[in-house]
Amino acid sequence: MSFHFGRDFLWGAASASYQVEGAAYEDGKGLSVWDVFCQKPEAVWEGHTGDVACDHYHRYLEDVSLMKEIGLKAYRLSIAWPRVMPAGTGTVNPKGVDFYGRLIDALLEANILPFVTLFHWDYPYDLFCRGGWLNPTSSDWFADYVSVIVDKFSDRVKHWFTLNEPSVFVELGHHYGNHAPGMKYSMKEILYISHNVLLAHGKSVMAIRSGSKSPCQVGFAPVGNAMIPASESPADIEAARQATFAIHSNDHTWNNTWLSDPVFFKQYPEDGLRVYGANVPEIGPNDMDIIGQPLDFYAFNNYTAGTIRAGEDGKPEYIPYLPGKPMTAMTWPVTPDGLYWVSKFFWERYQKPIYITENGMANVDWIHLDGHVHDPQRIDYTTRYLTALQRAVDEGIPIKGYFHWSIMDNFEWAEGYKQRFGMIYVDYPTQRRVLKDSALWYRSVIAGQ
Ligand code: GCO
Repeated sequence: MSFHFGRDFLWGAASASYQVEGAAYEDGKGLSVWDVFCQKPEAVWEGHTGDVACDHYHRYLEDVSLMKEIGLKAYRLSIAWPRVMPAGTGTVNPKGVDFYGRLIDALLEANILPFVTLFHWDYPYDLFCRGGWLNPTSSDWFADYVSVIVDKFSDRVKHWFTLNEPSVFVELGHHYGNHAPGMKYSMKEILYISHNVLLAHGKSVMAIRSGSKSPCQVGFAPVGNAMIPASESPADIEAARQATFAIHSNDHTWNNTWLSDPVFFKQYPEDGLRVYGANVPEIGPNDMDIIGQPLDFYAFNNYTAGTIRAGEDGKPEYIPYLPGKPMTAMTWPVTPDGLYWVSKFFWERYQKPIYITENGMANVDWIHLDGHVHDPQRIDYTTRYLTALQRAVDEGIPIKGYFHWSIMDNFEWAEGYKQRFGMIYVDYPTQRRVLKDSALWYRSVIAGQ
């Protein structure tokens, strides 16, 4: 299977610090909210924790050599804020800085571009105890941390994502409570937290732009909530476009525009202000200018999509996912066309080059009797999604790179190690790595590019 995404297209894979590193209490690392959350009975499946995870902290050289064997051009990692600043502010932990320096150097040595996510949910527990994102100083805490990271690594790192999926860590961690730190705040508090998170994003972009030691590119990695038109009639396409950018529920922020419009347009979307009403936070005089710092690309994570048709009056109507249609081990519907349509709609609206920062599937993988890990579903899934992406590329939409989630099986948050998303199988008891068939297939795709 070959794809033609352009000579400079970056074939990558992704992971995140808490999900792969382990060494949760080693070398001066401070507690994260996930370290504490995992200790809560029933919080995580079977009481799993990220204490050891994939032991990437100690095995990073082996992992980078496997990335090189696959032929990755780029690798999306995240930095654990409390590993570098144990209390979240103040003292910097030299051993934490040293680990990420060695990892970045190993990637560059392997001709793999490091794309660094500055926050992928492992928030410093000490800062949570000081109010966390509810604290009006929280955006400054994040900007100060980012300034330290930029000072240490911007001579080598030229691609930055400020935040991973803000809507997920805000909603699951602070509204539904099934992610760390496990809080169930009100919608008013959620929108206030979301505003502080956006301020943190903006201030960190300013910190990167002012402190970087080399020219760099900056963005963030929100969820890409995708809607597929039921047919390619203009009415259904318009209905899917409307649904992609609509805010109609006042009890959550699972949408695209509440975060992306402030970042790219310096304003909250009108329908959101109307729907959220009195819960909308007070907006400071300079807030939207801070939040709306210019970015170099639009990055997003996409796994699945909904289907929309135009109702009688052209209004979007959601079509339920039919029984018997394919689903992954997470029971997420397999909807490859969503990757085309959401790329198209985001390009039309935000007019920025695009990175797909996460796409992949959880599969029921194990080591077969022949010693290999055969995962035809993941190969088929990824073929379908990349084919949908090829349609976007062929239409001239500037897709700059694709980061498969994930490079290796890892800690899937509240699901613990039940779910396997990796192209590399991790045998946790032995920490043995086995390249799955999908890794060998991905290598052939990259080589054939
Ligand atoms: C997310 C996170 C990843 C997940 C992956 C599979 O998008 O939720 O960025 O950390 O592990 O998406 O759920």
